Amino acid sequence: MRKTSTQKSRVSFCDEGSSEIKMASISVFKASHPLRIQMRRIQRHRWLWGRKKVVPVAFLAPVAAVWAALNNADIQADKLYELLKTKRSRNSPVSNTWSVSDEATNEYSPVYIAPQDGLSDLDKIVTLPGQPSGVNFNQYSGYVTVNPNAGRALFYYFVESPTDSSNKPLVLWLNGGPGCSSMIGAMAELGPFRITSDGKSLFTNEYAWSNVANMLFLESPAGVGFSYSNTTSDYDHAGDKNTADDAYIFILNWLERFPQYKTRDFYITGESYAGHYVPQLAYKILLNNKKTNQTIINIKGIAIGNAWVDDETSESGMFDYWWTHAINSDATHNAILKYCDFGNETLSEMCVQSTNKAFDEMGNVDIYNIYAPICLNTDLRNASSTGSIDFFDPCWKSIIVKYLNDSVVQKAFHVKPTSWDYCSDVIPGWNDSPVTILPIINGDTDARVPITSSRYSINALNLPIKTPWRPWYLNKEVGGYLEAYEGLLLITVRGAGHTVPSYQPLRALTLFSSFLGGVLPPSS
Ligand SMILES: *[C@@H]1O[C@H](CO)[C@@H](O)[C@H](O)[C@H]1NC(C)=O
Ligand SMILES: *[C@@H]1O[C@H](CO)[C@@H](O)[C@H](O)[C@H]1NC(C)=O
Ligand SMILES: *[C@@H]1O[C@H](CO)[C@@H](O)[C@H](O)[C@H]1NC(C)=O
Ligand SMILES: *[C@@H]1O[C@H](CO)[C@@H](O)[C@H](O)[C@H]1NC(C)=O
Ligand SMILES: *[C@@H]1O[C@H](CO)[C@@H](O)[C@H](O)[C@H]1NC(C)=O
Repeated sequence: MRKTSTQKSRVSFCDEGSSEIKMASISVFKASHPLRIQMRRIQRHRWLWGRKKVVPVAFLAPVAAVWAALNNADIQADKLYELLKTKRSRNSPVSNTWSVSDEATNEYSPVYIAPQDGLSDLDKIVTLPGQPSGVNFNQYSGYVTVNPNAGRALFYYFVESPTDSSNKPLVLWLNGGPGCSSMIGAMAELGPFRITSDGKSLFTNEYAWSNVANMLFLESPAGVGFSYSNTTSDYDHAGDKNTADDAYIFILNWLERFPQYKTRDFYITGESYAGHYVPQLAYKILLNNKKTNQTIINIKGIAIGNAWVDDETSESGMFDYWWTHAINSDATHNAILKYCDFGNETLSEMCVQSTNKAFDEMGNVDIYNIYAPICLNTDLRNASSTGSIDFFDPCWKSIIVKYLNDSVVQKAFHVKPTSWDYCSDVIPGWNDSPVTILPIINGDTDARVPITSSRYSINALNLPIKTPWRPWYLNKEVGGYLEAYEGLLLITVRGAGHTVPSYQPLRALTLFSSFLGGVLPPSS
């Protein structure tokens, strides 16, 4: 590998799209072809955005998307508590500010709740520009103030189920990053519409999750998408804890605005870095329900896709995935196994070289879906006004920006004029991110066992197995594989990239329906 220049910078990538992930500081290597990025953790507590400066890379297990769903909230209060409190204690010079024990011991402190009467009517979307005809469901969107003193408000987009919505659960969806917009989920993954390749109109997603649930998309934290704060110094304080605190206040106020959903079964779903957001928010809800002896929010379960839940297992799992998918040579992989201790704050020089080599060997593939075409030309095409759910446009990022950055579209969504982007430009860093949200029972995960990140993470929980590994079927074909543990389900989707519903909409909807129904998808 030829490095023509080396420049170290602490950068993180948002994990939704090309500029995703990484809770690591990195070095950027300029080579004859595009910039190389290499992970190197120097300080984990402060991540800087570098997505405009570098060609982004990401790290989450692609192709076989792994979904972990926690069912049965009752037994989960304690489990989640355990899940969150046990963090790796070794060698972290930075005290993680997500302090579960503080939260657990403090008294419940009432949060800001404002009257919301009549606001839902104002939030009702008349029609979205370019929307197909025959839309038979209600859509709402707008801001919910979470802190009136700071002038901080979060944007939501809410899609009711076309049929029998009053008997269907309420499901919150969160994209990750940190700092990326959940409108990615709404417009490019599981929402009722996808955007045509010219960025101008919408077509129906017949596999929308709103077929089986009322879907609430939240842009979080403030500074992401349309969500904002009038006190811009708020953006400097972005981190896991503030994100969960604001999301909690958002939900309570949103439920005041839509009181018919107050007692509805509630689920939290998300992907990628939402592997942090989802359990942290669920934990907060359960804890406050317990402290107040009331079901303030009727949470029933959580599901996270391609989740980044633990730094060490995610990183070693990633490189193992690359090797088992013929992306890396034996020599490089063996060197990673030999020289890298991803649980260590500092990676050795030999490890850095080996991981560099691994990126070099990969070449220019879509790291979010290694078998998908890449976006070769970001100029928007003169697409026909009809799109197809069977074709996920690899240039989806320019398409979604074109649509949501349009002033007419923004007006329809009831937002003030904003330069909308799919990941935040205004959040300068991320202040707290625990290295793990899993209790790592064995501090040293054996990096010689060739399984991918999520399996490592789940294995680290050491849960008893209830349903052994088996395929699940859809239309006589294997849709993926699953293994059910006590209180937790690991399920994969065959042939899906990082954004699962983008690539396998029917399989994703099938597993989502099973999840809500509390049943496993069919075994034949
Ligand atoms: C932010 O400031 C604008 C302009 O003063 C105001 O209209 C808006 O309501 C404020 N936002 C919040 C959440 O208070
Ligand atoms: C919680 O509420 C239930 C039902 O109202 C009551 O029986 C119980 O004593 C309460 N527990 C506490 C700790 O307040
Ligand atoms: C972490 O890595 C550094 C550099 O390779 C090494 O000096 C140190 O001993 C390691 N720490 C632990 C706890 O393994
Ligand atoms: C798109 O259509 C316009 C008007 O028909 C034309 O001027 C333009 O060259 C086309 N662009 C592409 C990329 O085909
Ligand atoms: C959104 O549009 C405005 C002007 O219409 C432009 O200045 C801005 O760069 C655009 N934002 C993005 C993310 O493309």
